[in-house]
Amino acid sequence: MGRLAGKTAIITGAGSGIGFSTVALFANEGANVVICDISEESCECAYKEITTANGSALSQPMDVTEEGDWHDVFARAVEKFGQVDVVMNCAGVGDQSPIEETTVDIFDKVCDVNLKGVFLGCKHAILHMKNRPADLPSASIINVSSTAGFVGTARSGIYTMTKGGVRLFSKSVAVEVSEFGYNIRCNSLHPGGTETPMFDNSLAQRNVSKEAFSEIVKRRNLLGRRAKPFEIAYGALFLASDESSFMTGTELALDGGYAAR
Ligand SMILES: NC(=O)c1ccc[n+]([C@@H]2O[C@H](COP(=O)([O-])OP(=O)(O)OC[C@H]3O[C@@H](n4cnc5c(N)ncnc54)[C@H](O)[C@@H]3O)[C@@H](O)[C@H]2O)c1
Repeated sequence: MGRLAGKTAIITGAGSGIGFSTVALFANEGANVVICDISEESCECAYKEITTANGSALSQPMDVTEEGDWHDVFARAVEKFGQVDVVMNCAGVGDQSPIEETTVDIFDKVCDVNLKGVFLGCKHAILHMKNRPADLPSASIINVSSTAGFVGTARSGIYTMTKGGVRLFSKSVAVEVSEFGYNIRCNSLHPGGTETPMFDNSLAQRNVSKEAFSEIVKRRNLLGRRAKPFEIAYGALFLASDESSFMTGTELALDGGYAAR
């Protein structure tokens, strides 16, 4: 039996990179997956790939910054699968501008997706999960932060601000749901540099070739390489499954040791 058999998981940013690897892994482990992404085309591609492999899925294009879309996602997930056990807020955007060149438009865009999107995802997860019976394993909220949620970096100040915010907001969610007596856990997941379109775009924006970056990674990261998206998805699988039943209000770092020094 799969590690997520019988569970339903909503995953945002599921059309690409870490989010896509996660829906594929979760489906393979027996979950019903709700594929959410702002790109309708990416949602459809992911849906086809998962259902072709006999996975159970629902394609639900959405914008995580729109509260109405969150109402629709939960309504459709409940209609199709009955209840939602896991919400993974993975959608995110990056930016590589030096602070002195960062416009208010860039600030608003990065904060909107990375902070407002996570806030709305948690709010609607709580609204749905708050009546979960105490004798069921806890529901799980997973908020994707970054190594940028632990340490500062040049040329991604606003991104870092949002990822630090996601880390502490996740703790507040965990504390509040506990005080209110809800059967919900919440943790943040902190990937290090991972081979995804977002990361490749950030290199392009910095005018750094992949080869030059490999040399930088060898010096900075204790494992000397970037992660593959599936290596991050395995962390999400642990947080989503009942194997992490005693874990809430904390961080899971999958960063190749980047933040160790
Ligand atoms: N790739 C890395 O090195 C890395 C490292 C640390 C943290 N992260 C975090 O992991 C998460 C996933 O990143 P990735 O590297 O897989 O990126 P990605 O660009 O491959 O995927 C992100 C997905 O989010 C979707 N998205 C963007 N805005 C959206 C919105 N408003 N509503 C719904 N969907 C939206 C995009 O369409 C895209 O499919 C992000 O939160 C990112 O900050 C990535």
